[in-house]
Amino acid sequence: MRFAEAILITVAVAVRGVVGSPEPAPILAERQSGAITIDLGKTYQTIDGFGVSFAFQRANLITNMSDKKKQRELLDLLFNTTTGAGFTIIRNGIGSTPNSNSDYMNTFAPKNPGGPKATPQYEWDGKDSGQLWVSQEAVKTYGVKTIYADAWSAPGYMKTNGKDTNGGSICGVTGTSCSSGDWRQAYADYLTAYVKFYAEAGVTVTHLGFLNEPEFTASYASMNSNGNQAADFIKVLYPTLEAANLTQRTGIVCCDSEGWGNQVSMTNAIKSAGVENRLKAVTSHTYTGGPSGAMNTRVPVWLTEQCDLNGQWSTSFYASGGAGDGLTWANNIYSAVVNNNISGYLYWEGVQWPNPNTNEKLIRVDNKTNTYEVSKRLWAFANWSRYVRPGALRIGTTAPSGVRTAAFKNIDGSIAVIAISTGSSAVTVSIKISGATPTAVEAYVSDNTHNCDKTAASVATDGTISGSVPGRSITTFVIPGGGTAAAA
Ligand SMILES: *[C@@H]1O[C@H](CO)[C@@H](O)[C@H](O)[C@H]1NC(C)=O
Ligand SMILES: *[C@@H]1O[C@H](CO)[C@@H](O)[C@H](O)[C@H]1NC(C)=O
Ligand SMILES: *[C@@H]1O[C@H](CO)[C@@H](O)[C@H](O)[C@H]1NC(C)=O
Ligand SMILES: *[C@@H]1O[C@H](CO)[C@@H](O)[C@H](O)[C@H]1NC(C)=O
Ligand SMILES: *[C@@H]1O[C@H](CO)[C@@H](O)[C@H](O)[C@H]1NC(C)=O
Ligand SMILES: *[C@@H]1O[C@H](CO)[C@@H](O)[C@H](O)[C@H]1NC(C)=O
Repeated sequence: MRFAEAILITVAVAVRGVVGSPEPAPILAERQSGAITIDLGKTYQTIDGFGVSFAFQRANLITNMSDKKKQRELLDLLFNTTTGAGFTIIRNGIGSTPNSNSDYMNTFAPKNPGGPKATPQYEWDGKDSGQLWVSQEAVKTYGVKTIYADAWSAPGYMKTNGKDTNGGSICGVTGTSCSSGDWRQAYADYLTAYVKFYAEAGVTVTHLGFLNEPEFTASYASMNSNGNQAADFIKVLYPTLEAANLTQRTGIVCCDSEGWGNQVSMTNAIKSAGVENRLKAVTSHTYTGGPSGAMNTRVPVWLTEQCDLNGQWSTSFYASGGAGDGLTWANNIYSAVVNNNISGYLYWEGVQWPNPNTNEKLIRVDNKTNTYEVSKRLWAFANWSRYVRPGALRIGTTAPSGVRTAAFKNIDGSIAVIAISTGSSAVTVSIKISGATPTAVEAYVSDNTHNCDKTAASVATDGTISGSVPGRSITTFVIPGGGTAAAA
């Protein structure tokens, strides 16, 4: 536990006209009041960050953008902590396809060298489907430190089915038999070479994945694996990274299952095989089911891919509580972080072209007209990502009806209190920190008409913070120095 003393922050909450009240509340109704206690001594998981992917050539929508002003605006929207979401994690795709047709990610090893022991023929193009440039900008300009590179498949000649699409497994893992031999070491060398290409370009790949949705056979790049087979490969990949002196900065993650249930099985198999300690994070998607409690692992757990795949493009913060609404995602993140011990949370694509016109992206970029449109989902992420920074420790809270809260102590000492209203009415809050006297507070609100806009909040001379959480909003209170500076 990082914080020895328990400092209590008491938040008194007055709720006006809560949705679901039996009687319509008159104007200036009696106020229900409650109190939130924030306990710095009660600590949970450390947050690694929030992010998006640029896989399948989506990065090119930024990298190729000829209007340089708009290109900068897109980067700011994604990574700037004052004008954008302040994302801190990027998930890139390690290409496996021999070409860049359609939206495919090309591999840097398209040619079979003749066998697993033959000298590989790498052809690094310095672009990586546009992802390298976006990553360089994120790192250099915005200080992003967490780059997750994930392979959807190995190049086809390393697999049981001879192609990078339509499933198949890496030759050499348990249950496979390939006339071409055992390609595990060649695949490990290939992934290690990718990390080195990025390092030479100034980008540290901090997290390395070798599977994506391994229980799902897709017509695009895909590779099947069960937990035992994943463990087999981890046993080869880890020493390969170690021999390259990379394990201090590049850790292995697994397995980006399509859904939580499969990831639980794979994690258990990896534990049984004795290689859980070789992992830096356990990763899952939520398409076929999300978490219903913490996963039983010592390793940080990330939800690395989710989105609304079906709804038509929506820029609402709150329309009807649909899967594309910003508020829905503010709550999805809340549930992941507070109820399921999640340390990293990523939406699917950061940017995508208009076709298909779905909510699988946060920003819709039309490269024919050089225009873009930003969804409120981005601002819902901003509410978390700007204020809950990598390394933040989640701390204890209790909340009264009318709001959900989560609280975090950042590495810089600031405390972020995130409040999401559960109904359509405003909730007046007063926050008191016992044991400390804050002298400053900042508050930001996002709702249908605001995007992380600064909103009124004040500190009285006795340190009591007053503010409001508008209905259907997410509002964040940031207390610089955690209010302890004044007391110190
Ligand atoms: C980006 O430019 C590359 C050529 O460098 C091209 O192959 C690709 O289709 C372009 N993609 C977009 C989204 O503009
Ligand atoms: C973020 O945006 C602000 C306002 O436009 C700008 O001053 C700042 O330089 C940007 N930050 C970075 C890291 O580019
Ligand atoms: C290994 O990497 C660490 C940091 O990642 C570095 O400090 C050290 O010098 C490297 N050792 C060798 C032998 O390259
Ligand atoms: C939460 O995750 C951390 C790793 O980030 C782990 O150490 C801890 O045991 C987990 N807590 C629970 C309740 O599973
Ligand atoms: C726009 O992106 C698509 C998809 O990558 C690409 O095929 C097309 O060439 C791009 N158009 C322009 C004008 O860059
Ligand atoms: C959170 O998102 C809402 C919805 O757009 C926005 O109005 C608000 O300013 C955001 N708050 C923060 C703290 O980023």
